[in-house]
Amino acid sequence: MCGIVGYIGNREAYPIIIKGLQRLEYRGYDSAGVALLNGEMNVYKKQGKVADLHNFAKNENLKAHVGIGHTRWATHGAPSDENAHPHMSNNGRLVMIHNGIIENYAALKTDLKKKGYTFQSETDTEVFINFIEDIYQNTKVDLPEAVRLALTKVVGAYAIAIIDVNQPGQLIAARKGSPLVIGIGKGEYFLASDATPIVEYTSEVVYLDDEEIAVMGKDGLSIKNLEEVTTKPYIQTLDMELEAIEKGGYDHFMLKEIFEQPKSIGDCLRGRLNAAEGRLHLGGISDYVNKVMHADRILIIACGTSWHAGLVAEYIFEDFCRIPVEVEYASEFRYRNPIVGEKDVVIAISQSGETADTLAAIELAKSKGATILGVCNVVGSSIPRTTHAGSYTHAGPEIGVASTKAFTAQISVLTMMALMIAQKKGTMAESAFRKILFELEAVPDKVAKCLDLNAQIEIIAEQFKDATNFLYLGRGFNFPVALEGALKLKEISYIHAEGYPAAEMKHGPIALIDENMPVVFIATRDSSYEKIVSNIQEVKARKGKVIAIVTEGDKHIVEMADHIIEVPHASEAIMPLISVVPLQLLSYHIAVMRDCNVDQPRNLAKSVTVE
Ligand code: F6R
Repeated sequence: MCGIVGYIGNREAYPIIIKGLQRLEYRGYDSAGVALLNGEMNVYKKQGKVADLHNFAKNENLKAHVGIGHTRWATHGAPSDENAHPHMSNNGRLVMIHNGIIENYAALKTDLKKKGYTFQSETDTEVFINFIEDIYQNTKVDLPEAVRLALTKVVGAYAIAIIDVNQPGQLIAARKGSPLVIGIGKGEYFLASDATPIVEYTSEVVYLDDEEIAVMGKDGLSIKNLEEVTTKPYIQTLDMELEAIEKGGYDHFMLKEIFEQPKSIGDCLRGRLNAAEGRLHLGGISDYVNKVMHADRILIIACGTSWHAGLVAEYIFEDFCRIPVEVEYASEFRYRNPIVGEKDVVIAISQSGETADTLAAIELAKSKGATILGVCNVVGSSIPRTTHAGSYTHAGPEIGVASTKAFTAQISVLTMMALMIAQKKGTMAESAFRKILFELEAVPDKVAKCLDLNAQIEIIAEQFKDATNFLYLGRGFNFPVALEGALKLKEISYIHAEGYPAAEMKHGPIALIDENMPVVFIATRDSSYEKIVSNIQEVKARKGKVIAIVTEGDKHIVEMADHIIEVPHASEAIMPLISVVPLQLLSYHIAVMRDCNVDQPRNLAKSVTVE
């Protein structure tokens, strides 16, 4: 939540910052602002999107070689011009952007007010920069040291960038709990919440660690931690193409990402699986296979769509590996007093790798001695750096706020993990193991076939775009798909939708069904097929409108449903990778027809770095 960008070097800073903010807008879009240093400090900020900021600022003097910018997801204080970042300190010297939350800001603010400080905004960030100014003015230290001293006193999470009007050759950044990447060019430095604003200019990056402070400028890059230990910057090469973060001819990132799935699933499997040779290897977890095999229990921790991927994994791990699995909302787990021990293996799933609740749940489980494996998409993000081991999903940048390709990549990785353990543990017959390998390899082509249904799904969407409620029902492996379909619809179209296990319908939700209620059944051919056919009949008997996702060639449901969407056949454990695709397309088209902002739905942000 919140995106930050900074630049120092010989180029014009503004175009780099504004473009960078556009790339980071998925992280929050309540307000945006820039500070440009060119002899004097010019700060422009505006409630609304980055485009509103650009319209507001474009006729101003934007010349500068040093600058910082911010796109905000509001936490402390409503979205407004005043609460937009950057924030300036009382003496007008220091300017700061901040992603995160300072928990002890109220106490700091009271102290600062007693010293005569005044505040223009309701934000914790304005308190934070004035706290730094206060230390800077009252000690004889330089600014990086004043920042360090301040950071030892603040409680909370931050990725910050600071510029000082009197030191135009210096850009200071620090992080704890919120992400920050530094790009290294020739005599120039970039900083951002993720690598997307940087990739265009350099592929050399340094991921700052928690509690590190970086000083960039004419003297190069130096990094110190809060204990004053200097660390040598560990420079990594970015593995990201510019095309991956552009719309590439699609109207929305979400549609592009849905259509990328044959490739993203293929990228996820590549080099890890070879069905013809019966080979499967996830290098990232190979040292931990024994540990998982002998685990008392697997605990899966995640939020939102990643939690749904975790539910699919529960079915898969229990079926393939015969290990008990519990799937936990990270936000609930972290505030319970959970029973976790050394024989538990935790799998944390996160697209962004930055979700605050998931990170906190990991820390809790780690403190109780559990082994933690990660399944993340963003390389170098916080979760993969906190876990003992893990596997990246390699889905490429996901920019649409609604998660699509990350979900299918997560399930792909989790399926491979389960297969690796099952093979080693001997809980799966070799023939069954080989069969699933072939099926996994065939998923990209089957997903491509689902994408061919786009036009048909658009026609169905047209008929239901004005519905006020939707019910999504599935059983077994397709139950989490029902939850995911409902989440996709509600988050981007603002239609109320609920996902349920189909058999649970008669314990309550059936009361909702009348001729105005669309019910989406995920009713592909599997072990509960006959049961779900009965559930469809129950809905039809009450005049509900049935949209059914069925396996190609289905003869029964076609007679009962109002609309059918036929997907290629697959084993039930593999089916979620396929059956979810029409649901992604259905919600996409409904949202577009309702004129909703598909890529940036209201109130949401992609990377939820607050609890
Ligand atoms: C829904 C969605 C969210 C995320 C959730 C977890 O489309 O994107 O529900 O899945 O915020 O985020 P990650 O996976 O980044 O931890």
